[in-house]
Amino acid sequence: MDVIIQSNAEMAAHAVADLIARALSAKPDLVLGLATGCTMESVYDQLVRKHQEEGLDFSRCRTFNLDEYVGLAADDPCSYHYFMRQRFFDVVNIDRRNTYLPDGMAEDLETECASYERLIAANGGIDLQVLGIGLNGHLGFNEPLSAFRSRTRVQTLSRVTRSQNAPLFPKPRLMPQRAITMGVGTILEARHCLLLATGLDKADIVARAIEGPLTAMITATALQLHPACTIVLDEEAASNLRENDHYQRALPGQNSSPAASPIIAAQNKNRDLQHPVLSKKPLLADKF
Ligand code: GLP
Repeated sequence: MDVIIQSNAEMAAHAVADLIARALSAKPDLVLGLATGCTMESVYDQLVRKHQEEGLDFSRCRTFNLDEYVGLAADDPCSYHYFMRQRFFDVVNIDRRNTYLPDGMAEDLETECASYERLIAANGGIDLQVLGIGLNGHLGFNEPLSAFRSRTRVQTLSRVTRSQNAPLFPKPRLMPQRAITMGVGTILEARHCLLLATGLDKADIVARAIEGPLTAMITATALQLHPACTIVLDEEAASNLRENDHYQRALPGQNSSPAASPIIAAQNKNRDLQHPVLSKKPLLADKF
């Protein structure tokens, strides 16, 4: 696991967008796993800017989103389909036929989950999976007690998740009780995982996810098992880490400008990057 700490949320989002852009430039038909949530909004803003100003090309990219609420149609403004269209798909040159999210309106949800898994496999698996983290440590909607080997399935949302996400609905009672989510096992099969967390309210769960013992109660701890996982944090989200000084930081003075590459500038303190498994990875590992 590689932990990169940026001075603020904006710089952290820049770092994540840079990594995605580099992966896409290295492999134009990248299979990109995508996440939603407020934290991701500035990452999409950056990717859109890179497309518009720097010509970042999404035309051959394929995307798979982590999750979708059960019972929300694609044109519902609270659905993740809608979020992705508004924030990203409709404003870059991606081929909409290559963008996939689980269908929360499917008549047979089990069949929908199984076909989502098949679709990922048919596309050769996910190259780079972008992730946020819920206040309870969930990845996607893998709520506490999700098995580390779980696959795409329907999850009942926990109380913590419902209270975290209810403000995003016009009325809290309109928030669905269930969602389809990629499983923890599905996520761990991605060739590279890239998690972004920012803000003080994530500091406690981030520390437990990165430094705490593995537990299905906090599904993000499963990332400790992944051979190629990058975690990007801002100072606030990193503030409870015990080994804070061991992790990578942008060199002083080099992370003040979005143009500076925080990844290249990062002090490579984390020797995990020299691990032979990582050095064989086609994506990202060579960028540090
Ligand atoms: C939702 C998504 C998660 C995401 C989380 C974080 O619950 N299903 O994939 O990680 O939101 O949300 P935020 O970035 O708003 O804190």
